[in-house]
Amino acid sequence: MWRNVLSLVVEALLVPRVLCAYDYVIVGGGNGGLVVASRLSEDPTVEVLVLEVGPEVENIPEVYIPGLAGGGDIFESLNWAYQTTPQTNLNNRTLVVKAGRALGGSTIINSMIMTRATKAQYDAIGTLSNSTLWAWDAILPYFQRSEIFTPPNEDQIENGASYNGSVHGPSSPPDPDIGAVKVGFPNFFYPQSEMFARALMNGQDGMGFRRALDLADGEIRRRVGIASNSLDASNNVRCSAVCGYVTPFEKQRRNLHIITRATVSRVEWDDRKRDGLLVARRVQYYVHGDSVPRYADVNVGRGGEVIIAAGTLGSPKVMELSGVGNATLLRGLGIDVKLDLPTVGENLADHVRSWANAVSNASVTRDILRLNDTFRQEQLNLWCKSRSGLYSAAPRTLGLAATSDLVSEDRISVLVRNARRDLDKYASEYANGNGALQQGIKAQHEITLDFYDQDQQLPIELNVEPGYGGPTGPDGLGDNKFTTISAILYSPLSRGRSHITSTNAAARPAVDPAYWSHPLDVAMLVGGLQAARKVLRTPPLNSIFIKEFEPGAGVGESDEKVQAYLRGAAASDNHEVGTMSMMPESLGGVVDTELKVYGIDNVRVADASIIPMPLSAHLAATVYMIGEKAAESIKDEKRRRNAATLLYQMNQGS
Ligand SMILES: Cc1cc2nc3c(=O)[nH]c(=O)nc-3n(C[C@H](O)[C@H](O)[C@H](O)COP(=O)(O)OP(=O)(O)OC[C@H]3O[C@@H](n4cnc5c(N)ncnc54)[C@H](O)[C@@H]3O)c2cc1C
Ligand SMILES: *[C@@H]1O[C@H](CO)[C@@H](O)[C@H](O)[C@H]1NC(C)=O
Ligand SMILES: *[C@@H]1O[C@H](CO)[C@@H](O)[C@H](O)[C@H]1NC(C)=O
Ligand SMILES: *[C@@H]1O[C@H](CO)[C@@H](O)[C@H](O)[C@H]1NC(C)=O
Ligand SMILES: *[C@@H]1O[C@H](CO)[C@@H](O)[C@H](O)[C@H]1NC(C)=O
Ligand SMILES: *[C@@H]1O[C@H](CO)[C@@H](O)[C@H](O)[C@H]1NC(C)=O
Ligand SMILES: *[C@@H]1O[C@H](CO)[C@@H](O)[C@H](O)[C@H]1NC(C)=O
Repeated sequence: MWRNVLSLVVEALLVPRVLCAYDYVIVGGGNGGLVVASRLSEDPTVEVLVLEVGPEVENIPEVYIPGLAGGGDIFESLNWAYQTTPQTNLNNRTLVVKAGRALGGSTIINSMIMTRATKAQYDAIGTLSNSTLWAWDAILPYFQRSEIFTPPNEDQIENGASYNGSVHGPSSPPDPDIGAVKVGFPNFFYPQSEMFARALMNGQDGMGFRRALDLADGEIRRRVGIASNSLDASNNVRCSAVCGYVTPFEKQRRNLHIITRATVSRVEWDDRKRDGLLVARRVQYYVHGDSVPRYADVNVGRGGEVIIAAGTLGSPKVMELSGVGNATLLRGLGIDVKLDLPTVGENLADHVRSWANAVSNASVTRDILRLNDTFRQEQLNLWCKSRSGLYSAAPRTLGLAATSDLVSEDRISVLVRNARRDLDKYASEYANGNGALQQGIKAQHEITLDFYDQDQQLPIELNVEPGYGGPTGPDGLGDNKFTTISAILYSPLSRGRSHITSTNAAARPAVDPAYWSHPLDVAMLVGGLQAARKVLRTPPLNSIFIKEFEPGAGVGESDEKVQAYLRGAAASDNHEVGTMSMMPESLGGVVDTELKVYGIDNVRVADASIIPMPLSAHLAATVYMIGEKAAESIKDEKRRRNAATLLYQMNQGS
């Protein structure tokens, strides 16, 4: 009998593979998508295809030199720059939500900060999704698997870098042929970073924070420290999802196929359902410049799947174009409805950014790179020759403020009491008439309000930029040098939505994060910006403070004035989540805890869109973890299926 089974298995392996069909088709080659592609293609018997709109850009200096991150024309051309609808609570302004448009997705243009949220927040997502498999203890191994961590060297430690080795990945790859993102510390530290940390720790005039051992260890309340970066510390270059998960073995992986400049227009479905579930049969896409579509077939008979990883604003769009979403909305656009799943694209949340900056007399700031061409060239040469100087810096020292750092105890208790009173009102408004999602948003708000009550919420990140950061163009800055402190709202209760408005796959969707539609969000960001203004004047940072530039003396001191200023100035922090949320169906979720879309047999989602509610962290590290979890779920399902097939064959044979 065993011999029979074995020969069956061997035969199966020898069947020639159909080259135009793939076991896994991945829509979007970004932060989440490339992890899944990389992990699945470790198995040489499966064919994996990645379809990505943008080009491959690893060899562009603005991408790989840490000090050039966030600048230059590159950040226009490799950026979706989604426009929001006029934001009612922000003076009807149209804001820009950035997202990477290249192989590597947002990890190509992001600021390389690798932080994680609190243990309690991940545990809450586990509770919300009704699965202990998404609590901190369960996801930590996936965070670790996703990185190759280079501990700080003596010089970096001298400059304030520290870490807890037991929350990180290994320092060298367990196997050179498998992927993981390289994480480490930069080579240059501006003195302002340590001055900022000391100002936050200052117990007399400041907020009395403690120094963080590691901003990725889940214990970050009222801590300040140097964030590790997604960079290859051995060469001081950015490590994107491409660098981490594709480049190391690109040549050997003949079963990993990547097509760039390919826009996915829709997923097409089998005529017959399987156990009542829709079955994805092929993916339609357009190669840049073509007017006729191409198709990638999914090897359905072998358990083939489609993995949607087009980002929080790209993924609901692809589903809606495929006939999966709010039936009323789809019919209105003339789309053939395949599955009425009205919460696709709903539950959108985003972090909100604000900043206080001061004209500074610090001896070195990033402004000098803008002001002095000779200096800039010198610094670039320094980077090229020895990976040192200003361009080897990735300056983000940051601290996480608790509610009690921002508003008085009396004020917060009134705000939270009112928010509890109005739970149904906001949940109903945000859920757009969907009863299940109303319960889901209510559950999210209850979790958030409990954190507020216990003073365990981290509503604001404060971070320092040793130079100008803000909305004013170079012409408005004169030859001044600056210190900037950003205050970012991390725990918004506001929820909005993103939906397509046309059947054209090249068109961007409507994006409405409904910024500041909840009074707690307003209070926290106002408190955050006031804190940022104060930190600029706190010893030792006050020693380089000349005068406040923005918001500026004209805005005045009062919370009311700051609130009015922010309505005209606040921006997106590009951390959008929630549109394909991982929650039970009864709470209006779109995917289950194995990241499968409800009502569909073989489509999963693996990007930031599944994060059901905002986290107090920059998101890239979490999205790498999500990619690892998604790949593991897919492999698990394959193992289960193979075991079942084997059992069936054994029964037949005996
Ligand atoms: C400017 C900026 C700075 C940031 N800074 C940081 C930071 O310092 N640290 C941090 O942790 N996070 C940061 N973030 C956030 C973080 O990078 C993102 O949240 C995260 O990378 C998103 O991962 P994702 O997989 O969801 O989407 P992405 O990585 O954006 O991947 C989605 C991919 O899908 C592609 N795509 C979309 N639609 C289609 C389609 N129809 N067909 C084919 N392909 C498609 C896109 O082009 C893109 O490549 C930043 C983001 C931005 C924009
Ligand atoms: C925003 O637009 C709405 C609708 O057009 C209008 O009623 C409102 O007064 C505007 N608000 C501001 C602050 O301009
Ligand atoms: C390091 O992290 C581990 C795992 O979370 C934790 O148990 C340990 O206490 C941490 N060490 C320190 C010094 O904080
Ligand atoms: C510009 O930088 C060069 C090189 O570091 C320096 O010699 C020069 O003095 C700087 N110019 C000004 C105006 O500061
Ligand atoms: C579905 O779309 C219709 C039309 O845009 C809208 O009126 C309705 O509120 C939407 N339903 C949900 C649950 O979002
Ligand atoms: C910067 O200016 C402050 C006064 O605002 C002064 O106390 C300090 O000594 C100056 N520092 C340097 C480096 O010039
Ligand atoms: C959560 O899981 C339990 C046990 O699996 C189940 O009984 C319950 O119905 C689930 N709750 C939701 C909201 O799905």
